[in-house]
Amino acid sequence: MELPDGQDDITHRLDAALDGVALSAPSTTKFNQLVQLIADAAETPIARVYAAYISKPGNLSVRLGQSPSSQAALVKVALSDSAEADSPYEAAIKNVREGKSDAIVVIERAVGHWRVAGFVAARRPNDDPDIVPLERLSHALATRIEFVESTKDFEAPAGTRRARNAAVPVVAATPLEIDPRVLRMVRLAIATHPAVLLVGPPGTGKSTLIAQIRNEIAADPAAYGMTMPHEILSVTPDESWGTRELVGGESVDDSGRLRFSPGWVLEAISEDRWLALDEVNRADMDRIFGGLLTWLAGQEVVVGRTGPESGAGAIRLGWAETAESQVDGLEFLGAEDSGIDPVVYQAGREWRLLGTYNSLDAHRVFRLGMALGRRFRQVPVPAPEIDTFTRALTPRLDPLPHEIREGIASAITAMYAAHLNSDAIALGPALFLDLPSYVAAGMPSGAPAPELLSEAYLLSVGPLLARLEEDSLDALGVALSQADVLGDGWQWVRIQLRALA
Ligand SMILES: Nc1ncnc2c1ncn2[C@@H]1O[C@H](COP(=O)(O)OP(=O)(O)O)[C@@H](O)[C@H]1O
Ligand SMILES: [Mg+2]
Repeated sequence: MELPDGQDDITHRLDAALDGVALSAPSTTKFNQLVQLIADAAETPIARVYAAYISKPGNLSVRLGQSPSSQAALVKVALSDSAEADSPYEAAIKNVREGKSDAIVVIERAVGHWRVAGFVAARRPNDDPDIVPLERLSHALATRIEFVESTKDFEAPAGTRRARNAAVPVVAATPLEIDPRVLRMVRLAIATHPAVLLVGPPGTGKSTLIAQIRNEIAADPAAYGMTMPHEILSVTPDESWGTRELVGGESVDDSGRLRFSPGWVLEAISEDRWLALDEVNRADMDRIFGGLLTWLAGQEVVVGRTGPESGAGAIRLGWAETAESQVDGLEFLGAEDSGIDPVVYQAGREWRLLGTYNSLDAHRVFRLGMALGRRFRQVPVPAPEIDTFTRALTPRLDPLPHEIREGIASAITAMYAAHLNSDAIALGPALFLDLPSYVAAGMPSGAPAPELLSEAYLLSVGPLLARLEEDSLDALGVALSQADVLGDGWQWVRIQLRALA
């Protein structure tokens, strides 16, 4: 038979991925290869694919809905090995019809052989961007999609629906210019400690560095003391976060029953992905960390119960002996009758909790208390020295006309240096790297370059400057005028700051 382009390949890879699934294995990472494959076929991020084993069709809704990452998924994969007895396909249709899932691929094993038993999706408008990956996937799997009417409203623009609180998979980034000793501390801290925080002023590349770490580990795990690559889930906490979001806690399900739902730490462990909390100081970590303090010290803690009944199974969080994370008893989390069986999450020896912390914001948002701060290795990521900054700036000068390139470059470098040398407001390169493109955009209007530069600086750094005390601004003004950049532009910037304050 003639197969569509790439079809043969994916069929083989699907067979291989499914053969690799040992359903009795405790760790949910057993689905990683399968999830990766489905995501590749749909050309969609892996965070948008979720796979679960369905032991009986009645469990489908629970198994496909119990974790935060399942809520962010566009495609859910239901694996079942009871094809002859009772297919979960009908249950999948019902689940999609009730608006609980966008699309479900049902994969069944009959007489030892896996096959795609069906693909069901909610009918969507043709201009819905999510339609494209679904069709690509159906093509790749050589399976027709059965579209059903769903109670879910697809009017909301794509993205807004799931964007809230969904974790972003960390993706590739251009290499940063960072002090080699900072990089060494990051590497060795991660190699030797379960929790590592990158601390520094805004714009020093902390968030980007997390993505770079992921890439470096993928290329050379041993450089970070690892035996294998690790994916990272990155989430930005906010002030509404409680222990429930971070670790997990009770919430009311569709039928009004209290159930434990795992938070990001448990979720990341069950996928054996590292968790990165970007800008941790946006949430009050001291208040919500709770039992995690003890856990980070190496001990097992109980983080909840499987049901409201007294004696319901404990949800335990501990550490595995193995490099990989393991989860046992996940099926008791959403079971009709929770029973007394425990659910055991064990972070692997190579599992890490990462975070970024904005030192300049610390007075505004939440500070880390001593007890919590001690649990993290805190690596300073300061604004880099001038040479390093210049290397980062050079490729950003391209949009500027040749004749002013050098002048603008040295003015920006002097501005960066003035900040670097002022205790009040050292800032990372990020805030200065966008200045050339603003100036370049304004040149055709005939506006003088120094005016454009002052405007670019105001737009980029102004909101941070507006929060400074008068005497810090005075000191910065002195440093800027000594460097003889901006000229009377600085006076103009200061007047504008009043409107931003
Ligand atoms: N040291 C650096 N070298 C090169 N580019 C940098 C550097 N620091 C920041 N940038 C640029 O600024 C962007 C934003 O940095 P980001 O990671 O958001 O900083 P932070 O999280 O520390 O505020 C980066 O993606 C990169 O383009
Ligand atoms: Mg950041």
